[in-house]
Amino acid sequence: GIMHLPDYKEARKRDIRPYQRVVFQEDDKVKNKYQGKTFYLKTYGCQMNEHDSENIEALLTFLGFSKVDDYMDADLVLLNTCSIRENAHNKAFGMLGRLKHLKQEKKDLIVGLCGCMAQEASVVETILKDYKWVNFVFGTHNMYQLPEIIDTAIEENQQQIEVFSREGDLIEGLPVLRVNDYKAYVNIIYGCNKFCTYCIVPYTRGRERSRLKEDVLAEVQKLVDDGYKEVTLLGQNVNAYGKDLYDDYTMANLLEDVAKMGIPRIRFTTSHPWDFTDEMIDVIAKYPNIMPSVHLPVQSGSSRILKLMGRRYTKESYLELFHKIKDRVPGVTISTDIIVGFPGETEEDFLETLDLVRECQYDNAFTFIFSKREGTPACRLADPVSQKEKEERLQRLNEVVNHYFLENNKKLEGREVEVLVEGISDKKHMYYGYSDTNKLINFSSEKELTPGDLVMVKINDAKTWSLDGETVE
Ligand code: SAH
Ligand code: SF4
Ligand code: F3S
Repeated sequence: GIMHLPDYKEARKRDIRPYQRVVFQEDDKVKNKYQGKTFYLKTYGCQMNEHDSENIEALLTFLGFSKVDDYMDADLVLLNTCSIRENAHNKAFGMLGRLKHLKQEKKDLIVGLCGCMAQEASVVETILKDYKWVNFVFGTHNMYQLPEIIDTAIEENQQQIEVFSREGDLIEGLPVLRVNDYKAYVNIIYGCNKFCTYCIVPYTRGRERSRLKEDVLAEVQKLVDDGYKEVTLLGQNVNAYGKDLYDDYTMANLLEDVAKMGIPRIRFTTSHPWDFTDEMIDVIAKYPNIMPSVHLPVQSGSSRILKLMGRRYTKESYLELFHKIKDRVPGVTISTDIIVGFPGETEEDFLETLDLVRECQYDNAFTFIFSKREGTPACRLADPVSQKEKEERLQRLNEVVNHYFLENNKKLEGREVEVLVEGISDKKHMYYGYSDTNKLINFSSEKELTPGDLVMVKINDAKTWSLDGETVE
């Protein structure tokens, strides 16, 4: 039955609540109960969701389910959803449409939805009204309840909706089945307190809660022991790490402690420009195993729009930080996120964004058209610019950012870069992987390589989104 529904009024509260650190306990009653059954898990959205899916896979495996790659073959289909833009919503609902047809033929098919969309009251209302055949829904704050929710949905043959509006306890020790055995995600902070006016994440992920440094470091140590080559520290705003827990332990301290553990590659994402401290820059510059690659979302080059977005910096203060990082971290590449068509963005505002992009000459950029998210403050702002005009702005922006991707990549021609091998391309002895600066490299090698190898590659040819090269002996 319905246990808890998401409540938007609750979700938007900004107060910080006390919470407990709770260690996950497996319920042995359901262990391997569904042996012989299969699952298909589809993940939408950011790295946070990808990593959550690694926990979800482990929980499903604990129940006895085994994974299949085609949803047509599955006994259970679970969608781990994303709310960030309308098209993410549409994709998930499109998939539900296909599953409805499948369920008409396969009556025993179990379908569930989790992730950020489960936290939206309007989505859950729609599911209650028009998707009565969906077997279960759980949210981002109670992933650990997956075994009992699924078990109850199947046993009682009744829709289970269990979503907490607010963050609950901080759960440690969830099982994890990692996608790779050479690179790994490690959560360091959950939630977001920034409340940028366009963004739904604070409502779907709750307030900022840092994991204890001991828990983070123990997880990294385990990865080092298991031979992992790369760790990415995850959070909606990793720079806020520790603020809610410690007076004297920050993201800079955590980065340094992780660097000292000797894992060959450390990345972190995402950084909000507001919390990016000088100490962090010093640590990044000091340790060669902290990759010289920073994702620093700017969103807009117009200080007027930045203010409306609630971003807490101006074009000028962003540029100051940008240049400080560039000057102090040798060879650093900086990538960004940009939104065009925020409500009220004028041609002049947009030209300021182009101007900023020309100054920053980003190595990579994710560009989006503003998408109205129900219940966010930006949703209520007057928005006179047409969608067609916004699409044109996106196209003009993309032309400029793409130009600099190629220009920056060309500077690497003839140079040698270190690459972490990720896989083999279709062609024999052609491999791909990412450089220290987070560029996609396709390369040939005389020697047989396996994913997880670190090799030096000489760059022969630069393209806009990748570079070609060959290993050097
Ligand atoms: N916490 C990260 C952002 C995560 S969302 C940060 O602040 O850097 C990733 C990107 O999606 C954002 O940087 C923003 O560019 C984009 N985005 C978020 N909400 C959006 C919306 N309503 N419409 C369009 N793009 C959005
Ligand atoms: Fe969203 Fe802003 Fe938080 Fe990033 S910092 S998740 S854009 S509210
Ligand atoms: Fe999407 Fe939720 Fe990540 S809204 S971007 S999956 S935090």
